[in-house]
Amino acid sequence: MKPETSKATHEETLDPEDWEATRKLGHKMIDDMVDYLKTVRERPVWQNIPQQVKSQFTSPVPTSPEQPEEVYREFVNKVLPYPMGNIHPRFWGWILGTGTVTGAYAEFLAASINTNNGGGNQIGNHVEKQVVDWIKEMLEFPASASGVLTSGCSASNLIGLTVARNVKSTIDLRRKGLQPATEKLVLYASEEAHSSIQKAVELLGLGSNALHLIPVNSHFQIDLAKLKAAIIKDRQEGFTPFCIVGAAGTTNTGSVDGLKALADLCKREKLWFHIDGAFGAWARLSSKAKNTVVGIELADSLALDLHKWMYMPYEIGCVLVREEKHHRKAFSLTPDYLAHGEGERGVTGGDLPWFSDYSYELSRGFRALKAWMSIKEHGSKKYARIIQQNIDQAAYLGKLIEASPELELSAPITLNIVCFRFVSAHLDDAPLNGVNKQIAVDLQEQGIAVLTGTIIDGKYVLRVANTNHRSRREDFEVLVREVLRIGKKLTEKKSKN
Ligand SMILES: Cc1ncc(COP(=O)(O)O)c(C=O)c1O
Repeated sequence: MKPETSKATHEETLDPEDWEATRKLGHKMIDDMVDYLKTVRERPVWQNIPQQVKSQFTSPVPTSPEQPEEVYREFVNKVLPYPMGNIHPRFWGWILGTGTVTGAYAEFLAASINTNNGGGNQIGNHVEKQVVDWIKEMLEFPASASGVLTSGCSASNLIGLTVARNVKSTIDLRRKGLQPATEKLVLYASEEAHSSIQKAVELLGLGSNALHLIPVNSHFQIDLAKLKAAIIKDRQEGFTPFCIVGAAGTTNTGSVDGLKALADLCKREKLWFHIDGAFGAWARLSSKAKNTVVGIELADSLALDLHKWMYMPYEIGCVLVREEKHHRKAFSLTPDYLAHGEGERGVTGGDLPWFSDYSYELSRGFRALKAWMSIKEHGSKKYARIIQQNIDQAAYLGKLIEASPELELSAPITLNIVCFRFVSAHLDDAPLNGVNKQIAVDLQEQGIAVLTGTIIDGKYVLRVANTNHRSRREDFEVLVREVLRIGKKLTEKKSKN
């Protein structure tokens, strides 16, 4: 039978039928978003999603087309008003970044060319290599290190600890896995380490029991004496210590472990030194703050984010590995259909290694573009100034708290995180925990500010994490004023009851 001719076949595409209408819609989106970002300060930080809106997200899959203008209208009505709120100048919850306009534009450009940065002889690899080189330069990490951009620091921690486990095990773990392992690998971090470290350890098949959490000192840094004692005891008990995870900025308080001392200890004990520098690594940029994180350059692997304290839109993180050969050995796998060679011709050749050889992911988005454009647009000196501005604002907030008899600081302020709570002479810790929790919720629901809480010394505390390039000192004045207003109102009520 003869194949149908091209004329007889009706073939479809997802491209628009009306390119001019598409252009017009795109221009409208840009106009709307520029207005939205320009006026962010005038809106509530956050608002609850009405039930009636939520219920519209349970409809079955659309089977017929809708006009893109209509889909966009739905976005404006149903999505745009109810995001997390982390672009707002008074959002300081968890540790979320704010994003930038150029970062957002770059996302559109990256998606338009839709290049797959897993590898290939293409410009995306050169852009990503340059971004990774710039990160090494900014953080004063050895230029010979390898690196790859990730979806965030959870992924970076997973990659760094994978390399650590594989290098330090006496078994060929890629081939044999953990099944025949006779060695009982263990690693160390402080009790303040981020949960992504535990997740990575679990994913690596080591089990969370292998993560030995060491108590912290009064500055929330890993207690070195207790760490050394744990290593000795574990060896005596037949465990094989393989790694210490240092924190350059803990999530709870922003504390930084004694990184140089940890690096020395790792060298002496022949352990891998991984640093979780999710946000804190970037303090290195500021000449005033860089001493706080001295030692990050000594890590065997360093995990960090760019969507937190480099203010880039989600998602973007990075992991650096001091010895490239270890990094590649942990992840490189080349079946016939992915054969590629540096120096060869065509799209499978080129003069750069493939980034997929340094990660568990093969297909990778072009997140490098937003980093490349952002760093070019602002320059490292401006990032350094804004990072220092955030640190100064945190210190300012600390002073406002100290000047208010109804507020108390709950932890030392190392960098950009402030933990504090509302107190009242009439109430014990248990009701005060409830009051502080309610303050956080009221601040959010009234659209004033978003901060989240944590537990310090068994008490619920309010926590401000300042990775926000839009915050001004006046925003922290508003925060203190409103915490006092809400706190007083709640405690008056409780005293009357
Ligand atoms: C210290 C630390 N490490 C790791 C992470 C995980 O980073 P991500 O959320 O980018 O995966 C966080 C997140 O807040 C963090 O604070």
